[in-house]
Amino acid sequence: MSEAGTLDHKASSPESAMFVRDLWYMAALAAPFRPGVMRRVMLLGEPVVIGRGRSGEMFALRDICPHRGVPLSAGKIKADDSVECPYHGWRFRKNGVCSAIPSLVEGQDLDPAKIKVRSYPLIEQDGLIWIYMAAKPGAAPKGEPPKVLLSDAKIRWTETQTFACNIDHAVIGLMDPCHAAFVHDHWWWKTRPKVKEKRYVPLPRGFTMAPHKPVKPAYSLLGEVSTEITFELPSTRFEIIEGTLFGQPFKVVGLTVCTPRDAQTTDTIQMFYWPGWLFFIKPFFQLLGPTFIGDDRKIVELQKEGLKFDPNLMLIQDADQPAIWYHRVKKAWAESVENGTEFVNSVQEKVLRWRS
Ligand code: FES
Ligand SMILES: [Fe+2]
Repeated sequence: MSEAGTLDHKASSPESAMFVRDLWYMAALAAPFRPGVMRRVMLLGEPVVIGRGRSGEMFALRDICPHRGVPLSAGKIKADDSVECPYHGWRFRKNGVCSAIPSLVEGQDLDPAKIKVRSYPLIEQDGLIWIYMAAKPGAAPKGEPPKVLLSDAKIRWTETQTFACNIDHAVIGLMDPCHAAFVHDHWWWKTRPKVKEKRYVPLPRGFTMAPHKPVKPAYSLLGEVSTEITFELPSTRFEIIEGTLFGQPFKVVGLTVCTPRDAQTTDTIQMFYWPGWLFFIKPFFQLLGPTFIGDDRKIVELQKEGLKFDPNLMLIQDADQPAIWYHRVKKAWAESVENGTEFVNSVQEKVLRWRS
């Protein structure tokens, strides 16, 4: 069976098909959330207020006051860690239950506890805030957010760029093995085109390019290394670089996520984690990282000029095989959520060949 085909996600696809649920999404970096700070973020087209109470605990609520719709993020975090709406002062606990309605007087027996704003499961780990987007509000999370497998997982470098595209184009751009020579056309990244052969194996919710020796000259900064590049739903890509430098074995972990803000806006957020003694590699990331992610951002802006006309698109073998798998895994996940059946990953181990 030929795997070449058309790409069925057009720019006009409904939002419901665009976003898969019952998954953890990386909503924001944790660092700006000092105690008493809250902020509005968009996630899968929904406004969410993320905040940190004075006790240090974090919360995520739908950023729409159930009384008359004012964003709760414009209000205050009170001493008891409840969120106060700026319009009529209704207060909400971190589980979303209303704890006070100031206008009530004695004898008016409206029970605030019967009023609720949606609350989202939130986990803070590795300097990141993960929010669980359940298909059914209130459903308990299945599984946990992806973890950075490094002791002392501290973000050493991070860059966020907003891509004017849906999550699919951002994700496909991220895993596309053949764009680098054209899009990242820099002396420090470019190599002479060669036939590549890489082995891919399935992961629970995606696939991984098995460990290999990278050919890009930029890696030579770290000496002899091997890298493994994983992808799992909804949009998590780990690059695990392992090697030995000055006789010391080390691991550097890159994590890139594509966080869908709405159907046409996706943040691509990249974090790198490394052991403290590798501090001298930081300037390299500061110097080149923004340009590198910026290249990918600019190409999707250009792509938008074509997508406006809702053309049929293509995915070809083997260069677009990761994208074909992505669509297949995403579709199977969406169906399993909708039908309440178990998700089965149909990706099979395969060696892909392409020239890049
Ligand atoms: S709109 Fe929030 S309290 Fe009235
Ligand atoms: Fe790229």
